[in-house]
Amino acid sequence: MTKRIAVLASGRGSNFQGVIDATRDGRVPASCVRLITDNPGAYAIERAKQANIPFTVVDYASFPSREAYERALFHTMQDCNAHLFVLAGYMRIVGKEIVRAFSGRMINIHPALLPSFPGLHGQRQAVLHGVKVSGCTVHFVDESLDGGPIIIQQCVPVLEEDDEDTLAARILEHEHRCLPEALRLFCEDRLVIDGRRVRIR
Ligand code: GRF
Repeated sequence: MTKRIAVLASGRGSNFQGVIDATRDGRVPASCVRLITDNPGAYAIERAKQANIPFTVVDYASFPSREAYERALFHTMQDCNAHLFVLAGYMRIVGKEIVRAFSGRMINIHPALLPSFPGLHGQRQAVLHGVKVSGCTVHFVDESLDGGPIIIQQCVPVLEEDDEDTLAARILEHEHRCLPEALRLFCEDRLVIDGRRVRIR
């Protein structure tokens, strides 16, 4: 059965575009069935429209509390009937109930070599720290902040003249390759979570 992927994104959505392209050209054996966004101004919505992919805006600002937002998000996710949820530039921490409900079925892309530089602005943290290599990480989501079992990582050099933006641009190119690759492995049922490790069959 063809796997169904739903994407959560808050902004630009270039990784979402990468998922659309990879599912359509056969690199990922799945269909991208929905975009969910917390941001009514997200450019990802334009990408969904252009690709004819249904989208749902769960506008964080319109809810009286974080709990109310999370409940609405949970119902939206359930309604997707997706095998896999991809956090692709989704800029909020996912609540514990959602993480538990979709355990082993949520994947995040992070612009640093975890466990270094979790949280926001991974690229800025790398430049400020002065590391010589950074990169990107695709991992399963658990209840920790960017701490779930790692599927794929890619190193990217940090150059002397780099600032946050130039490093982010270099890392992004690799994100666009790593995320579809991880999704392909998931959709081919080749990922086995074994404690902290993800084994690739
Ligand atoms: C990416 O760098 C991603 O790793 C991070 O946020 C950025 C989103 O970019 N979580 P885009 O919206 O996919 O273009």
